[in-house]
Amino acid sequence: MGKSVMIASFKGGVGKSTVAVNLAAGLAARGYKILIVDLDASSGSVDLFLGCEHDTVYNFLDVAKKRVGIKDAVYSKNVGLGFISGRDKNANINHSKTTRPSVDILKSPPLYDFEYECKNNGGNNNGEGFSMGDAVGEFIAAAKEIYDFVIFDCPSGKFELFDILAAKTDTVFVITLHSSASVRSAERLAASLSESTGSKGENVRLIINGFNPKGVSRGLNLGIVEIIERSKIKLIGLIGLSDVIRDLQESGKTVYDIKGGKISGVRKDFDDIAGRILDNNIKLSRKYGGFRTDSLYFKNEK
Ligand SMILES: Nc1ncnc2c1ncn2[C@@H]1O[C@H](COP(=O)(O)OP(=O)(O)OP(=O)(O)O)[C@@H](O)[C@H]1O
Ligand SMILES: [Mg+2]
Repeated sequence: MGKSVMIASFKGGVGKSTVAVNLAAGLAARGYKILIVDLDASSGSVDLFLGCEHDTVYNFLDVAKKRVGIKDAVYSKNVGLGFISGRDKNANINHSKTTRPSVDILKSPPLYDFEYECKNNGGNNNGEGFSMGDAVGEFIAAAKEIYDFVIFDCPSGKFELFDILAAKTDTVFVITLHSSASVRSAERLAASLSESTGSKGENVRLIINGFNPKGVSRGLNLGIVEIIERSKIKLIGLIGLSDVIRDLQESGKTVYDIKGGKISGVRKDFDDIAGRILDNNIKLSRKYGGFRTDSLYFKNEK
């Protein structure tokens, strides 16, 4: 039985899709079977970031409304240069028959369709026969039978399926930059999650993206501990600011698609988060101060 992950932020452009795609590639490279579901009807970019915009056909709604089964709906895209072996005792690289890792994709639904289905509870105004809540639940249950990880790349803000998805996924990753405005928005998201799901944040984790240690030392950006204290979300990892990420995305590539050099630092950031998702206790990289992440996790639990 797989795990489902919702990748969210109230603020736009903070790196949700970047994180979704590269984490998916990192987990796939460790041998896990991954489905990435683009739910951003207005500016979905997963297919672009994975270089398969002309190949993906079906979207989440096609499956949720049972127009097509998951296995027939997904497009499978090779990612990365090869499997990462010998690093993770849980990895099962044999369950992929391809020689390269791959991730399965459902592209973003059309905006008119998505809004209509969400507003009308699946096109059925009297609420009988179809409920979006049930459909999301069934989708997740079916996907978790097939995949080790089902990753939902969400639109920014409190979109139509926000509460339903937050209640039905196993984990929510909140993405923030290290600016005051972005962190405030992350805090609001966490507060909204605890109101809507009643959870005390057990399943919510923070990823700080675009982190630039120089900005912190010059006093321009918030530091790690301050971000955790302000957002009141436990940290699962940081991703450094990297020009290369943007260039790679423009050519439909992930950080796992090229070797070493300028990308090795940011690829380690993704590797570390993938490792923590798999329950390995990995310290924050020395370039970020080197503390143990568990000490950061527990900072807000007193
Ligand atoms: N760590 C990083 N370093 C440098 N640039 C980054 C980093 N992460 C993301 N970016 C860039 O920031 C921009 C926004 O990223 P992305 O599209 O992933 O954000 P998003 O939160 O998904 O946006 P939206 O709210 O529109 O869905 C992209 O141009 C991306 O290349
Ligand atoms: Mg996005």
